[in-house]
Amino acid sequence: MSSTSIVYTPFTLPCGKTVRNRLVKAAMEENMSGRWLLPDHALFSLYRYWAHGGLGMIITGNVMIDRHAMTGPGGVALEADSPIEPFIQWAKIIRSGGALAIMQINHPGRQVLKAMRDTALAPSAISLNMGRHSSLFAKPIAMQGSDIHTICARFVTTAVRAKEAGFDGVEIHAAHGYLLTQFLSPLWNQREDEWGGNLLNRARLLLNIVCQIRACCGSNFIIMVKLNSADFQHGGFDIDDAQVVVSMLEGVGVDVVELTGGSYESPAMQGRTHNERTLPKEAYFLEFAKRIAASTSLPVMTTGGIRRLAVAERVIEQGCALAGMGSAVASTPDLAKKWQIKADYQGVAPVCHWRDKTLASFVKMAKVRRELRRLGNDLTPLKHPSSFHSLLLDLLHRRKMTKRYHTYMAAWAQEKEK
Ligand SMILES: Cc1cc2nc3c(=O)[nH]c(=O)nc-3n(C[C@H](O)[C@H](O)[C@H](O)COP(=O)(O)O)c2cc1C
Repeated sequence: MSSTSIVYTPFTLPCGKTVRNRLVKAAMEENMSGRWLLPDHALFSLYRYWAHGGLGMIITGNVMIDRHAMTGPGGVALEADSPIEPFIQWAKIIRSGGALAIMQINHPGRQVLKAMRDTALAPSAISLNMGRHSSLFAKPIAMQGSDIHTICARFVTTAVRAKEAGFDGVEIHAAHGYLLTQFLSPLWNQREDEWGGNLLNRARLLLNIVCQIRACCGSNFIIMVKLNSADFQHGGFDIDDAQVVVSMLEGVGVDVVELTGGSYESPAMQGRTHNERTLPKEAYFLEFAKRIAASTSLPVMTTGGIRRLAVAERVIEQGCALAGMGSAVASTPDLAKKWQIKADYQGVAPVCHWRDKTLASFVKMAKVRRELRRLGNDLTPLKHPSSFHSLLLDLLHRRKMTKRYHTYMAAWAQEKEK
């Protein structure tokens, strides 16, 4: 038995809530919402597996603060007028095995597929550079000051509603190239007003969102921030910037900073970058996390490339409070329990060796999403699904979800006109 391992010790967060162990299911967008972009039976079945999988904390896939700006088809949105019952049921299931329930909240900024929407709001009108895949993305439009205030208010509304539904807290997604990352990055934020220029200005939206959520949700609500340790692009947000932003977050009541890295353009979160930097094969961001953890009183979590207990232990021993896992718990949802019985049990990572690196990244995501859909249908995970078949199924599923999204948007638009 390895239950004496450091990863099975509890940890009390600054807000006073205690997480029973250090193993966290990281956010993974499921693309499995039910009618009207709400959680329903498929998501409930999926989260029941994690709820009873021995984890300390479970973070949902990113939930959108605005149904007009979705990171992908089949996403969940929680807005001021969303019915709360499905979210109450979701939170109840997530918490049913003793884990804390955290809702990740997000706005994609310019990282929007053209199939979902022609245009996307962004700090500056700078298009994604994805080589021959660039044309798949919406045209970015620079936000007005009023758009920025509206988005801040939407983050707060979604957090308040998550609390109302029974979630223990929220995680603000400020990583992986989405809107708040775009504001933080000098490459993608070229504004000349109070939201651009120096790092304090670029971090202002994130800081305002945190402060307002804390003011509205009270002192014992968990607020986490998922932050890039670096964008891994020349001239982008780097580890020195991340260290300064973490020190800013220290002063505004954040409970945990989850460190990751990259964006669609440079998918470091999958262990691969577009600049010269090579990441380790396991615990990709541990060196960055160690440096940040040593410089802050905020609890640090790192996610990326953790599939073995020994690696999760190293993460905690080297100064992180929590260890996040995505793909490993998609194929083995009870990995945290398995390690207590068999300490050398090896989690599975999706692989794809196709030459087109962008397509290979997409295949790896497709494989993970396939596992999630299988769990949502109460089917056993495949562990080693075929690349081609997974990609094909994913494309078909996404096409169906995109079509459904447009049907809902048209119905909402009609309703508004009445
Ligand atoms: C299918 C899939 C969906 C993801 N969706 C999200 C998301 O909604 N929010 C987020 O912060 N990260 C998301 N991620 C990134 C994971 O949280 C994590 O950072 C990344 O997969 C690296 O961790 P891993 O090696 O344990 O999988 C996603 C990853 C995958 C594979």
